[in-house]
Amino acid sequence: MAEQIIISNNALSREQRYVELLPQIKSLLSGETDLIANLANLAAALKESMGFFWVGFYLIKGEELVLGPFQGPVACTRIGKGKGVCGTAWMKGSTIIVEDVDLFPGHIACSSSSRSEIVVPAFRNGEVFLVLDVDSVHLSDFNAVDEKYLGEIIKLIEVL
Ligand code: SME
Repeated sequence: MAEQIIISNNALSREQRYVELLPQIKSLLSGETDLIANLANLAAALKESMGFFWVGFYLIKGEELVLGPFQGPVACTRIGKGKGVCGTAWMKGSTIIVEDVDLFPGHIACSSSSRSEIVVPAFRNGEVFLVLDVDSVHLSDFNAVDEKYLGEIIKLIEVL
């Protein structure tokens, strides 16, 4: 019998993992219309498949971001507009990659283990309505590959 070669997920590059994950996420979202249910499963899928330290969503409520579904350590519950990386991504309406959180003025340290971060805003009717935040225990852990694929995932949320 021929030896079966099994490539574990750990052997895949991060880009390959995103490529494998995207169709699974599309199918995960296709059967459900409730935003919170979908965000909860998305956070779990991202944590499980990508092995991120912390991954979750902050939803805009009035003048604040309020913690939504996430996976990882307990996090700050409210972030003001323009505050921290999340509040800045909301204010600017653009993705922010922070290579070293200690060098980002006003970074909000929910966990002292977090060293780098990416925040991607999602839009509805031309306005940011939530942000996706991913934290890593490694410095400089996020780059254009994460921006591209997390951006594609965010687009799936925008049309829910
Ligand atoms: N570091 C973020 C706060 C959220 S936690 O990382 C989960 C910020 O500066 O906005």
